[in-house]
Amino acid sequence: MYIEDRPDLQAVLGVFQDKVLSKTTYFGVKTLKNPLDAWVYQEIICEVRPDIVIEVGNFCGGSTLFLAHILDALGKGKVIALDLSHKDVPEFIKKNRRIKFIEGDACKNSVRVKKLIKRTDKVLVIEDSAHTFENTLNVIKTFAPMVTKDSYLIIEDSICHHGIAVGPNPGPWEAIEEFIKDNQEFIIDRSREAFLITYNPKGFLRRQTVSGKYSKSMLTSSIQWLAHRFGYHISRWPIEPSSYL
Ligand SMILES: C[S@@+](CC[C@H](N)C(=O)[O-])C[C@H]1O[C@@H](n2cnc3c(N)ncnc32)[C@H](O)[C@@H]1O
Repeated sequence: MYIEDRPDLQAVLGVFQDKVLSKTTYFGVKTLKNPLDAWVYQEIICEVRPDIVIEVGNFCGGSTLFLAHILDALGKGKVIALDLSHKDVPEFIKKNRRIKFIEGDACKNSVRVKKLIKRTDKVLVIEDSAHTFENTLNVIKTFAPMVTKDSYLIIEDSICHHGIAVGPNPGPWEAIEEFIKDNQEFIIDRSREAFLITYNPKGFLRRQTVSGKYSKSMLTSSIQWLAHRFGYHISRWPIEPSSYL
């Protein structure tokens, strides 16, 4: 039983919504995070031990500091913090040695992010930005390839219209469904919703072992790229890759 199947929890969610949106702080800094989800992030980070946590959408930086403190306790790792603006982030967070702030649209800055990641780094991504369908899907498609095997891509606020009647519709839930339907590299790990009250139903995506199988979209783009690279003319686009599998 998951949050979207529990209309009886509306009153409890109303209290969470009021507290999370207006009164939750971390180290005195406003943080838009359900504390139960924050605890799960701590569990995931301790298991994965990432070298890089990419947080898309930082707002005041409370959640960013929370992530940096976990990495500090583990003795390794950096947070790459992306937001349109970091004007509301206090100086003491901006100076934290485990955080690298990048200002501007997250997807437009993906090349800068990639340059900060070493080939051997374990990478975890948290998307918590605009929550519209288009933006969420764009962030997922841009940053999912950076997530390393056995690590996570966490999409926040899929509770919009799938638990609480607020936020964009379609939103993160629909973006997750669109992404996952043609993707064999990630699985939705619903064991991360064990506390029931989560803002991220179906939002914990684990990158699983790739055992010689590739997603259609990956294979299509690889074939198209190779054909283009070697100057072959292929009359029918996109190629249907199922015949190659
Ligand atoms: C929900 S808040 C982030 C909350 C924060 N993660 C927390 O837990 O406290 C969303 C943030 O995403 C940022 N944002 C919206 N669209 C964005 C985009 N295209 N690229 C980067 N950041 C974006 C907004 O400026 C806003 O600060």
